[in-house]
Amino acid sequence: MHTVTLIPGDGIGPEVTNAMVKVVEASGAKINWEKVQAGEAVIEKYNTAIPDYVIDSIKKNKVAIKGPITTPVGKGFKSVNVTLRQKLDLYVNLRPIKSFKGIKSRYEDVDLVIVRENTEDLYAGIEHKIGDYAAESIKIITKPACERICKFAFDYAKDNNRKKVTGVHKANIMKLSDGLFLNTFREVAKDYNIESDDLIVDAAAMNLVLNPENYDVMVMPNLYGDILSDLCSGLVGGLGIIPGANIGKDVAVFEAVHGSAPQIAGQNIANPTAIIQSAVMMLKYLGEVDAAKKIEKALEEVFLKGEKLTVDLGGNSTTEEFTDEIIKYI
Ligand code: NAI
Repeated sequence: MHTVTLIPGDGIGPEVTNAMVKVVEASGAKINWEKVQAGEAVIEKYNTAIPDYVIDSIKKNKVAIKGPITTPVGKGFKSVNVTLRQKLDLYVNLRPIKSFKGIKSRYEDVDLVIVRENTEDLYAGIEHKIGDYAAESIKIITKPACERICKFAFDYAKDNNRKKVTGVHKANIMKLSDGLFLNTFREVAKDYNIESDDLIVDAAAMNLVLNPENYDVMVMPNLYGDILSDLCSGLVGGLGIIPGANIGKDVAVFEAVHGSAPQIAGQNIANPTAIIQSAVMMLKYLGEVDAAKKIEKALEEVFLKGEKLTVDLGGNSTTEEFTDEIIKYI
C-alpha cells in the first residue's frame, strides 16, 4: 500500500482528479489517498493558497498528485505550482509528448520528451517596480541547476533507450545566463555516449511545428520549457492529454500540463486523460508497473475505438462517460 497526497485543485481539478482516482482504483494499484486542499478553497481561511499542511503531507508521503491550481494573472498570490516546486526542490519537470492512434491531430507519430528546469530562470519570481513606469524581472541561471537538469535529461535518455538529447537556449542574446546553460549542456553531453545537439528556442518552436519527428529528448530552462510543452501538446491533440511529473531528489509531484480551465469547470466535459496519464507516470515511479500498463492499454483502446471521446477531442461524451469507458477496458 502506498500513501499518496492528493490535491484536487481548482476549476476542472476536482472533476479530473476524481476520474483519475476511479481509474487507478480499477487498475488494482493499492493506493491510500491522503486528500489535502490547496488553492482557492483555502486561501481565505489560511491567507495562503498553499498552507504548511500541504507541504508537510507531501514531505511525509514523498509522492503527490495534484489537479491544476488557479493563479491570478498580473496580481495576487504567487503561483502555488511554482511555490511547491521551489519549496520541495522539484528540479525536473518531465513532460512526455506522445501521439495516440485514434486522436485526430496535426501529427500521428510524435514521441518526444520535454525536460524543463523547474526551480529558477525568470520563474524565481524576483521582480520589482522601478517607479511607476518600469518593472524588472530577474533571470537566475546557476551552474549546479544546469548541471543537474542536463544530467537528468541524459540519464533519462540512457535509461529509456532514447536516441538524442537536444539542449534549447537563447545564448545568442542572453550570452551569460543562457550561455551558462548551453556551456553546461555541452560539458555534460561529453560524459554520455548519446547523440546531442543544441538549438535556439525560436528555431526550436518552428522546427517542432514543421518536423517534430526530428526531436527526442529536449532539455531547457524553465520559461522555454513552459512554452514549448504547450506547443508540443498542440501537435498531438491539445492540453487535455499531456501528463507531467515534477521530480526532486526523493519527492515527486505528478500533475497534468494544463491549467484549471475555469470556463469549462463544473460542466462534466473536461478531458481527464492528462491527469490519468500523470497517474500512469506516478504508478511507474512507485513500482506499480502492471497497474500502469493496464491503464495505458485501456487508454489506447478507448482512443482507437473513438466512440467515447470528450469535446476537446471532437467527441461529445462527458468526463464520466469517458472515464467509465476506460474502466470498462481495464
Ligand atoms: P488552461 O490549461 O486552463 O486552459 C487552456 C485551454 O485548454 C482552455 O481552452 C481550456 O478549456 C482547455 N483545456 C485545458 N485543460 C483541458 C482539459 N483537461 N479538457 C478540456 N479542455 C482543456 O490554461 P489557462 O486558461 O491559461 O489557465 C487557467 C488557470 O490555470 C490560470 O489561473 C493558470 O495560472 C492556471 N494554471 C495552472 C497550472 C497548474 O496548476 N499546474 C498550469 C497552467 C495554468
